[in-house]
Amino acid sequence: MTIIDEIRQLKAQHNAVILAHNYVNGEIQDIADFCGDSLELSIKAKDVKAPVIVFCGVRFMAETAKLLSPDSIVLLPNSDAGCPMADMADAGEVAAFRKENPDSLLVAYVNSTAAVKANVDICCTSGNVEKVLNSIPAEKKVMFLPDRNLGGNMVNKLERSMELWRGYCPIHNKVTVETITEARKAHPGAVVLVHPECQVDVIAACDHALSTGGILKYVRESTETEFIIGTECGILHRLRKENPGKKFYSLQPELVCVDMKKITLENVRDCLKNMSEQIELPEDLMKSAVRPIEAMLAL
Ligand code: 13P
Ligand code: SF4
Repeated sequence: MTIIDEIRQLKAQHNAVILAHNYVNGEIQDIADFCGDSLELSIKAKDVKAPVIVFCGVRFMAETAKLLSPDSIVLLPNSDAGCPMADMADAGEVAAFRKENPDSLLVAYVNSTAAVKANVDICCTSGNVEKVLNSIPAEKKVMFLPDRNLGGNMVNKLERSMELWRGYCPIHNKVTVETITEARKAHPGAVVLVHPECQVDVIAACDHALSTGGILKYVRESTETEFIIGTECGILHRLRKENPGKKFYSLQPELVCVDMKKITLENVRDCLKNMSEQIELPEDLMKSAVRPIEAMLAL
């Protein structure tokens, strides 16, 4: 029996659903019931109503799934799959900021821990950040966390001032304007699509800054045929599979999120065999942390 057969068998036995982020290895995306960006996966986790959800992504995403599906067993196939940006906002520090700044509204990018979410007013993803910020009165003081790049890009785009936390994604922060200039020379006419976690000067130099789901949608609907992709390389799998007639060039081959790549076929099988690691959060934390996610989904 192949490992894929084993996974299928265990999946059927536990009545499990496999959700996968657009950045995980292609072979994991291929066995998933649903692939998506963090917003799409949050919505799916809420709607899927499966007794067991195998979450192929990083810890904060699996935590979000658990918050939205508290009655399901949510499995993270590799306990070490974290997000360095999420870890750049410490819950204690966020709670202290909140206490010292009672007139500030705290907006947390979903790339944050459940403990941080418990201390904020509303969440956003890169797919709905504009909608979330536009729902807040312009005169309201806002602290955006943890991503200074996504926050800074929204300060420019929406022309609203916000205080920014000091976090960033170590992968997207590596994207440079010079590589965009070189890639445009190598592939004249190709559309440059990057993720809004890139730095402000990169956003100014690209054609469109979009969430991973936004990039997939843009390419699907575009009549253009060549694209330079400035985000984590895992997305190329879906882009190529879904658009066989179009060409994709990775902006920088080193755009690899090692945490997303920690999910393997072996640990997907093993987590279903051992029913571990199950995401477990204290009940009071669950109650406080789901509130800003629900506020986001209610918009
Ligand atoms: P998306 O919301 O676009 O899926 O991005 C999540 C992420 O972690 C980007 O680095
Ligand atoms: Fe976190 Fe960046 Fe990896 Fe996304 S790509 S999970 S933000 S480290």
